[in-house]
Amino acid sequence: HWDGALARGIIAEQASLEGAMLPILHALQEEFGCVPHEAVPLVADALNLSRAEVHGVVSFYHDFRARPPGRHVLKLCRAEACQAMGAEAVSAGLMRRLGVEWHGTTADGSLTLEPAFCLGLCACAPAALLDGEPLARLDEAVLENVVAEARR
Ligand code: FES
Repeated sequence: HWDGALARGIIAEQASLEGAMLPILHALQEEFGCVPHEAVPLVADALNLSRAEVHGVVSFYHDFRARPPGRHVLKLCRAEACQAMGAEAVSAGLMRRLGVEWHGTTADGSLTLEPAFCLGLCACAPAALLDGEPLARLDEAVLENVVAEARR
């Protein structure tokens, strides 16, 4: 949960570095599982930026999330090689079944769905990472299993 003093410490540690924004955001996400919205003004103050600028960076990079994730995180690749192998249909089907959008978490908190842009697994497209573990040649059946596992 949110700890302002801890967040200030993390920010202060890195604030003097050149290009401190990304390392700070990564460190915050490491600690809190996301970049909490409470942290945005703190980062802005430390780096002499506006809140909007910090918020812009958090939302621009797909690696950062503004809310804590579900118990499992599924990153589905949306880049070209995977698209060519039908990734869009697979993800659309999954989103329909789970009732979530990109960056969304299922109502039971079991799974967060995130987009990825080439995982280096193009030869086994469509590809994904489940909690950092590669999943290859995805189809509806594979995903069905993944989701069932995640929900146990
Ligand atoms: Fe999907 Fe490379 S395009 S892993």
